[in-house]
Amino acid sequence: MRIDIITLFPEMCEAVLGESIIGRARKNNAVQIICHQLRDFAFDKHRRVDDAPYGGGMGMLMKAEPIALCFDNICNQTSTRPHFIYMSPQGQTLTQQKVKSLAQYENICLLCGHYEGVDERLIEEYIDEEISIGDYVLTGGELPALVLADSIARMLPGVLSADECFELESHYNGLLEYPQYTRPAVWHDKEVPPVLLSGNHKKVDDFRRKSALRRTALKRPDMLNNLALNSEEQQYVNDVLSNCNKSE
Ligand SMILES: C[S@@+](CC[C@H](N)C(=O)[O-])C[C@H]1O[C@@H](n2cnc3c(N)ncnc32)[C@H](O)[C@@H]1O
Repeated sequence: MRIDIITLFPEMCEAVLGESIIGRARKNNAVQIICHQLRDFAFDKHRRVDDAPYGGGMGMLMKAEPIALCFDNICNQTSTRPHFIYMSPQGQTLTQQKVKSLAQYENICLLCGHYEGVDERLIEEYIDEEISIGDYVLTGGELPALVLADSIARMLPGVLSADECFELESHYNGLLEYPQYTRPAVWHDKEVPPVLLSGNHKKVDDFRRKSALRRTALKRPDMLNNLALNSEEQQYVNDVLSNCNKSE
């Protein structure tokens, strides 16, 4: 997969995307991520990427033309037109399900806004989708684009050591992940649950499934509404919830 990022701060994006798992994945070509300096596509007399909004008001707005030229230039380099996403506090809030579906694209392009945002006509004419990382406002779209690029890249083949790494994690199947422990077996007088030391894989799996259900019921009861549980699991969740209500 190829992810293009249009930004006024490519160094900021590179600093993050060059490190750790995503940095290695880029070196191994498991994912291609290319950051584009928007200023390189400002060809008017003053090479401006922003201007004051018509009608007045606070702040500056990103001009449509440099963004359109930058995106057209990217389209000339890719085999299919990238799915063009504007990182915006006005978009749909990002979820793991959304990440899963975006990971199917061959090419996506992320637009990082700045200042007051982007000329509306560019959004109407070019943008396929607006995505928000939460109901709050940041100074720019770089952090949201990095969040989205990281969350997609880690689902691509060859980025993590196995699909299992993300399939068992929180949100993939509508549950929070079970608690985990590492050495030593006793720390500050707290013991690791004995079943995890038993070597019995079936019992470990059962323990983990129940722990994930328990944790989801206690931390994020809202997530239970979207789960299809068998009757035994539903009973277990009901017991967890009623015990927690009693102890309140
Ligand atoms: C200060 S914000 C602009 C906010 C805009 N004036 C509004 O009220 O909707 C500047 C840029 O940061 C990015 N941004 C800010 N908050 C975001 C969020 N929650 N999710 C995604 N992008 C965000 C967007 O790219 C946006 O264009």
